[in-house]
Amino acid sequence: WVRDYYYSLTVVELEKYKGVEGPVVAAVSGGVDSTVAAALARRVLGDRVVPVLVDHGLFREGEVEEVVENLAKAGLKPLVLDEKERFLSRLEGVADCEERRRIIGEEFAKVFDQVMEEQGARVFIQGTTYPDIVESGGTGVADRIKSHHNVAGLPLWFREKYLVAEPLKHLYKDEVREVARMLGVPEYFVKRQPFPGPGLAVRVVGVFTRRKLEICRRASAVVEQVLRRHGLLDKVWQAFAVVGDDKWVGVKGDARRVGYVVIVRIVESSDAMTADYFKLPYSILDEVSREITRSIEDVTMVAYAVTTKPPSTIEPC
Ligand code: XMP
Repeated sequence: WVRDYYYSLTVVELEKYKGVEGPVVAAVSGGVDSTVAAALARRVLGDRVVPVLVDHGLFREGEVEEVVENLAKAGLKPLVLDEKERFLSRLEGVADCEERRRIIGEEFAKVFDQVMEEQGARVFIQGTTYPDIVESGGTGVADRIKSHHNVAGLPLWFREKYLVAEPLKHLYKDEVREVARMLGVPEYFVKRQPFPGPGLAVRVVGVFTRRKLEICRRASAVVEQVLRRHGLLDKVWQAFAVVGDDKWVGVKGDARRVGYVVIVRIVESSDAMTADYFKLPYSILDEVSREITRSIEDVTMVAYAVTTKPPSTIEPC
């Protein structure tokens, strides 16, 4: 009955929009939250639901293709919009992460506004969950931890212009996963690690550059590959790489080379409110380090993040 209860909470949210005519736009990113929100919307509001995936250039390696393929298996064929340049050109040079979240939220709203206009849609659906709201300062700006782009970042004008439906807003991640299983959403989504809406933009610390973004993307792919090889990727909450402005003198070939420091973060958690770093065996850590420095020419040091949340957060900024 608990599952039924979670499910009914989401359905009640969507039923409010049954009487609103016309297409309904559901923002999808490939994460479990937005996939479940879109699948629920399909169930409650029918075929007029149009899933839309905005490629902001901040996804992981090969992610967009992989997600589209798997969404198709869930019966969702998204409209994919290549907006990489729009986002990256605005992010370049911006050092403050919160400012980047704001920019991303603003650009998302502009892109979706355009889509809503083109489709003639009044209802917009997104997969905001309860922790997104709490951590964005549902109780006031003073205790805000990070402004998750889909909550704080969605500008007021967008919320005023359209009907924004957030069917998962009462649920925690594990409850979303329960609903996913009830709906028969493919395991690919159910098992996926959480990934922030602003993507790799929150894993580049300091001034945002395209080079650091590429390093972050490649290093994260290595972290995932190594963990997958050892059957660990599905056992941890999140596993990724971070890059900042710190440099380390290295020796590559016979030459002295000043390169970037990459920080690997692998955490265990059940709801992201608290987290512990994963006690990765040294031999596997060693593989991660060697493969990152081998595959990325301008990385000369790999470090492992060993602080719990709190006092740290999971993402670096
Ligand atoms: P932190 O870093 O606050 O993260 O410990 C808690 C969980 O939230 C994710 N996260 C985000 N998700 N937009 C999102 O949609 C964001 O801006 C954002 N920042 C962090 C993070 O990956 C973790 O699962």
